[in-house]
Amino acid sequence: MRASLELARAGMKVAVLSKVFPTRSHTVAAQGGIAAPLANSTEDNWHWHMYDTVKGSDYLGDQDAIEYMCRRAIEVVVELEHLGMPFDRLENGKIYQRPFGGHTQDYGSAKMAMRSCAAADRTGHAMLHTLYQSNVKVNTQFFVEWMALDLVRDSEGTVCGVVAMEMETGEVMILQGKSTILATGGGGRIYAASTNAFINTGDGIGMAARAGIPLEDMEFWQFHPTGVAGAGVLITEGVRGEGGYLLNKDGERFMERYAPNAKDLASRDVVSRAMTTEIKEGRGCGKDADYVLLKLDHLGPEVINLRLPGIREIAIKFANVDPVKDPIPVVPTVHYQMGGIPTNYLGQVVVPKGGNPEVPVAGLFAVGECACVSVHGANRLGTNSLLDLVVFGKAGGESAVEEIRRQPLAHRDLPKDAGDYSLSRLARLDSATSGERVFDVGNDLRRSMQAHCGVFRFPDMLIEGVDRMKEIAERAGRTFIADKSKVFNTARIEALELDNLVETAMSTVVSAEARKESRGAQAREDFPNRDDKNWMKHTLWFKEGNRLEYKPVHQKPLSVETFEPKVRSY
Ligand code: FUM
Repeated sequence: MRASLELARAGMKVAVLSKVFPTRSHTVAAQGGIAAPLANSTEDNWHWHMYDTVKGSDYLGDQDAIEYMCRRAIEVVVELEHLGMPFDRLENGKIYQRPFGGHTQDYGSAKMAMRSCAAADRTGHAMLHTLYQSNVKVNTQFFVEWMALDLVRDSEGTVCGVVAMEMETGEVMILQGKSTILATGGGGRIYAASTNAFINTGDGIGMAARAGIPLEDMEFWQFHPTGVAGAGVLITEGVRGEGGYLLNKDGERFMERYAPNAKDLASRDVVSRAMTTEIKEGRGCGKDADYVLLKLDHLGPEVINLRLPGIREIAIKFANVDPVKDPIPVVPTVHYQMGGIPTNYLGQVVVPKGGNPEVPVAGLFAVGECACVSVHGANRLGTNSLLDLVVFGKAGGESAVEEIRRQPLAHRDLPKDAGDYSLSRLARLDSATSGERVFDVGNDLRRSMQAHCGVFRFPDMLIEGVDRMKEIAERAGRTFIADKSKVFNTARIEALELDNLVETAMSTVVSAEARKESRGAQAREDFPNRDDKNWMKHTLWFKEGNRLEYKPVHQKPLSVETFEPKVRSY
């Protein structure tokens, strides 16, 4: 919606297709805030933010893109404020900011930066409504409950639009566009335990992979430390930002051992591994010793009700505890994909061609979680996702405006077979009279990913995971739906989503098995250390041939000195 706003404001005709009503998109789950070094409560600046982001990425993030994002952070947050986003306020009227994991002052000192601009614990929710209303004002045309199926590319590889299905009627149409922007979010539903909404099935990832575009760094999946045990619902890191902390069964504040400076506000990969280790070593809580506790009652009801009202509600509903009195049972839960469709910092999708690893694909952009810019590298810092959305949404919108203005008035001719591929996918589902149940294949996929490609990764499990995923992909090609009706047929939609889950999961497990090192969210038992000599490079997975290539990390920022890789401790 930030990209469409840019386009509509420039006078372009914009169609936004969305599987759900736009204010129900998964951005709503980003609870705790959006990073920007406003320095409203602690000293701060973009260069410290950049350092933290590079370090947080375990040095896999592209430093040009990271500089670009951190330098534009203040501008985009102030814009949101002026659009009417209801941020919480300090006494002096400035935007309220809280600390978040891995965000520090003075290049990683023990002092945390208060950098997360928050609307209580509903920042993503507030942002969605602000952007939706702003789009309505400039006449963006929303196509609500439409599912994009495939990209349309012509013989030169230019993207001319998408094939999409109106879910209400089951009708399939081509939406032709001079620029197409994928903003389809992540595919966190490839895991059994996920903070992600059911809509997060990696649709843009699948569309890109089927159109011959490689996927970058898909092995890196963020486990958020605090999902409600058993339910997976997110408990914002903002709880720890406000002063909450984790305890094991002995009542020990165990993060002090793993991250003596940042403690509970270390980077998410560090905290998730620490929690998993506590549980594995028998210091988990409950009768099965399979979770740890998040304590926040000491913050008092005033702070909890003012700053974390949604968390209190979630804890009561999903964990059956009132955090004003009792700690919340939590486990690390899949939350975010760091990898995705490769883009540059202008939002253009880039692919290797003729020896150049990053040639823009004409007519195609990607922003947000489905894209890999790469600002998050091997591990994302909390609150950098909302920032990524608005910075690169704006940049992608600006680039698309430029691209459209360079083109003649008339649209390019559509290829003669545009739409055939999507129609053949649907025809197979319509004609199949028997086969695999979508639900069974999806469940096996989710369970396999959880078992074979989790917080800690083991060589045999990864190899086996690749084989299992190949079997699952094969089964997904034989699915069958009993309901052949057209009108709001959710069985058909789930079958189409399964194709996207398969591309997302396959690219993940193949890339993870191949990367023989530990870095950020990839923690291998057989290669426990980061290996910059051999693995300081981005993975590219190609659907065709299920094969991998690699490309260099951009270690050179736009205008400042490189942050050289160092041992990463908190
Ligand atoms: O913990 C949270 O509020 C999540 C934020 C994020 O993923 O950036």
